[in-house]
Amino acid sequence: MRVIVERNPEAVARTAAQFVARLVRRHPTCVLGLATGGTPLGLYRELIRMHREEGLDFSRVVSFNLDEYVGLGPTHPQSYRHFMQQNFFDHINIDVRNTHVPDGRALDFEAYCVQYEKMIEEEGGIELQVLGIGSDGHIAFNEPGSSLGSRTRLKTLTAETVRDNARFFATPEEVPRLAVTMGVGTILESRQCLLLACGQSKARAIRDTIEGPVTAQVTASALQLHRDVVCVIDEEAAQLLARRDYYLEVERLQARLESGQLGTLPPGKQPL
Ligand code: GLP
Repeated sequence: MRVIVERNPEAVARTAAQFVARLVRRHPTCVLGLATGGTPLGLYRELIRMHREEGLDFSRVVSFNLDEYVGLGPTHPQSYRHFMQQNFFDHINIDVRNTHVPDGRALDFEAYCVQYEKMIEEEGGIELQVLGIGSDGHIAFNEPGSSLGSRTRLKTLTAETVRDNARFFATPEEVPRLAVTMGVGTILESRQCLLLACGQSKARAIRDTIEGPVTAQVTASALQLHRDVVCVIDEEAAQLLARRDYYLEVERLQARLESGQLGTLPPGKQPL
């Protein structure tokens, strides 16, 4: 796992956007996995800026979102489809037909979830999956106890998640109790994962994810089993990490390597 600790959420957004933009430039038909929540908002703002000012081209990009609330249609102001349109898709040149957000009102969820997995597979799989993290360490809506091999399915939300998400709804009673979500196993199949976290409220989840044991009680910890994970977090989210200084040292050396200050590595050799 690569851990990049940035000074503040703005720097997290800029660094994360560099990862996404590099992929989109290198591979204009890439398949992105996208997330909702407050954390990736800065990333989307930065990508919109890059689209407007630097011509970052999303016209052939395909996207799959992690999850959606059950019962909310695409025009509901709190649906994740609506969130993605408002905060990202409406401001870039992505073809909306290439964007996929799970359907929160599918008639047959079992069949729909199988179909969602199949669509991802038919596009060749997800190349870069953007992830936020819940305060209990969940990714997408894979609540504690979710199988680490799980696939797209319905999930009951915990009281903690319902409480966390209540801020977006007029009353706590309106917060959906069920979601359709990619599974941990689905997420682990993406070629690269980009985990973002900001703020003190995420410090415990980040410590458990990066330095704790791999456990279904903290579904993000399954990322330790993935070969290519980059965590971009701010100082506050990093404050409980025991090896924080080591991660900073790795990045310092990485920067020196990239600028040629440590000599060149033989082709194909990765230092980290
Ligand atoms: C929800 C979403 C997750 C997200 C989490 C944290 O549970 N399903 O994908 O990571 O909220 O959201 P925020 O970034 O607003 O803290």
